[in-house]
Amino acid sequence: MKKMLVLSFLALAPALLAQKFEGLALTPPMGWNTWNTFQGKISESLIKEMAEALISSGMQKAGYRYLVVDDAWEASERDAQGNLVPDPVRFPSGMKALGDYLHSRGFQFGIHNCAGTKTCAGYPGGRGHEFQDALTYASWGVDYLKYDWCNHGTANAQETYKTMRDAIFTARRPVVFSLCEWGDTKPWLWAKDVGHLWRTTGDIMACYDCQGVYSLGWKFILESQVGLEEYAGPGHWNDPDMLEVGNPGLTLAESRAHFSLWSILAAPLMAGNDVRKMSGEVLEILTNPEVIAINQDPLGKQGYRFMNHPGKQIWVKELSRKEWAVCFYNSGDDTVQLRIDWNHLPFLKGSYRIRDLWQKKDLGQTSAEFRAPLAAHDVILLKLSPIS
Ligand code: GLA
Repeated sequence: MKKMLVLSFLALAPALLAQKFEGLALTPPMGWNTWNTFQGKISESLIKEMAEALISSGMQKAGYRYLVVDDAWEASERDAQGNLVPDPVRFPSGMKALGDYLHSRGFQFGIHNCAGTKTCAGYPGGRGHEFQDALTYASWGVDYLKYDWCNHGTANAQETYKTMRDAIFTARRPVVFSLCEWGDTKPWLWAKDVGHLWRTTGDIMACYDCQGVYSLGWKFILESQVGLEEYAGPGHWNDPDMLEVGNPGLTLAESRAHFSLWSILAAPLMAGNDVRKMSGEVLEILTNPEVIAINQDPLGKQGYRFMNHPGKQIWVKELSRKEWAVCFYNSGDDTVQLRIDWNHLPFLKGSYRIRDLWQKKDLGQTSAEFRAPLAAHDVILLKLSPIS
């Protein structure tokens, strides 16, 4: 009898002990993802070209280390044993070989699948195969799993994502688990112990303020992040979707503002442009070390909107060492004149040195009024450091 009890406890143990892997994504994940530019037109040679371009452009050094292969890497069916297999034409060397290559070039290997029966692009989904698939990913050396929500039928989001979390934990390879449930069931309220990041919205589009059926320009995505700041922190981030920086559809100012505000939001910085062909200006935006440092600040606090006047918004982010990032953002369509009395920012205590992170210039101290013109859809991003 005793023996039976012990045995049944042992059988339950993996499920009871299952949890997400702790100690991962202590700052927002940074990387590059295939989807925003290439959608289904991906192959192992394209991934390798991107990896090399990320290295030669200096992006990898700037912090972009997760290379994520999004939807459409799979063959249209599982094999006879029910295993996931890559498309034999576009990924002829297989995913283990791709993972080995990425690791040898200093990247972490990310892959996409879906909690439903099929991915959004119609490839085999993970439903009912979670434990088998987690073992497959572990055997391929996967470090990051983006898990989508198409074709989920009547499945319950919390239960479904917890099953995949448990499967990953049971496979024993640490994997950053990225929930892509689009914010449907408010994952910020329940996913802290399930994944390391969760999408908060539908898909981003490469535009400032356009709207599709399931997708939005970044202006609207930003708006929907207001109030979510309390739910993010080291190891559990809100994900307002990947970057469109540098993609046709955004002006340079809109790309700069998008990058600045995603940094203030402590959002994952997943570039989604064709890094083989980007301009010097786009590269400068994506690799500005002082802006990336705002995003990656070890305190891990998501910034918030402090003020919202027509056309003039102020977003702020508390940083370590008692510093603050302050982002003036012109959401309107005309240039505005900023006039800021620093005394009106109550979280500031004493005087601060001001650094303009895009002009890369020190601008004096917070004792004087701050005045500057701000162009439409653009930002001024400052870092304030206390004068001790
Ligand atoms: C969904 C996700 C996107 C992308 C596509 C792939 O729309 O939200 O980020 O992964 O699926 O089909």
